[in-house]
Amino acid sequence: VTLGNRSLEAVAQYIKDGRAGRIVVMTGAGISTSAGIPDFRSPDTGLYANLARLNLPYAEAVFDISYFRKNPLPFYTLAQELYPGAYRPTITHSFIYLLHKKGLLLKLFTQNIDCLEREAGVPDDLILEAHGSFARQSCIDCKASFPADLMQKAIREKEVPKCLQKGCRGLVKPEIVFFGESLPQEFFVQQWLPEEADLCIVMGTSLSVAPFSGLPEKCREVTPRLLINSEQVGAMGSRADDVLLLEDCDSGVRKLAEACGWLEELESLWAE
Ligand code: OAD
Repeated sequence: VTLGNRSLEAVAQYIKDGRAGRIVVMTGAGISTSAGIPDFRSPDTGLYANLARLNLPYAEAVFDISYFRKNPLPFYTLAQELYPGAYRPTITHSFIYLLHKKGLLLKLFTQNIDCLEREAGVPDDLILEAHGSFARQSCIDCKASFPADLMQKAIREKEVPKCLQKGCRGLVKPEIVFFGESLPQEFFVQQWLPEEADLCIVMGTSLSVAPFSGLPEKCREVTPRLLINSEQVGAMGSRADDVLLLEDCDSGVRKLAEACGWLEELESLWAE
């Protein structure tokens, strides 16, 4: 057993003792809900519960590559709302930046496509966007990349853009990973990094989509894992050094920061 007991205070003490110099953070949509972006699976407020207006055969079809081939319009209807730019990072995003500022962040694995981690200051090379992002776009057939300004226009006008390559005319989409598509190559290279971590923090994810959901299991048994989420998820809680903080991410990270003596610094980072 690595921690003295399974409490937030024990995790904070472990950090204060300098034993957590390589922290991996794993996040999902729940860290952005307080920014105003809905998550996917929360029963009333989640995106999947609110897609009736798009007449989908099933909610996840909006992010399914074979459905997109037949009917790309529902995705483009939603893309306008999901497009980064309109939202401000939460204090949870700032907390991840604070870990980096203190030299403790080994890697952030995120499923989010909202780019808020980057906006909070986490450097590019420490972020692994496992489900892609709106940063690039390409043809789903010939894979040719597509100009960013034309993509922005398409999203603004809810038009489905077509590939500009001669003789192709395939559908273009942002390089967000859809169901039926492979994760970025980088994920498969970096997925072993949790083995090198000395602390794992999982926040705001239902851990219901593979292979991302398997990342916490890649941590060694002796590595403490902290879950800050409104519900218990995955196998978090099954190990001797798992600590569960089942509450709102923002209030959870405030508690952790306070226990580490970082609260003031965190609040002022976030207010910047
Ligand atoms: P989900 O919507 O599946 O899970 C969000 C989790 O965060 C749930 O467990 C919520 O209870 C919790 N949650 C929500 N708001 C919270 C808050 N303020 N504080 C604490 N917990 C909160 O979202 P993800 O796990 O990110 O993929 O979903 C994974 C993937 O499924 C997404 O990347 C997306 C989706 O389909 C693709 O589209 C490929």
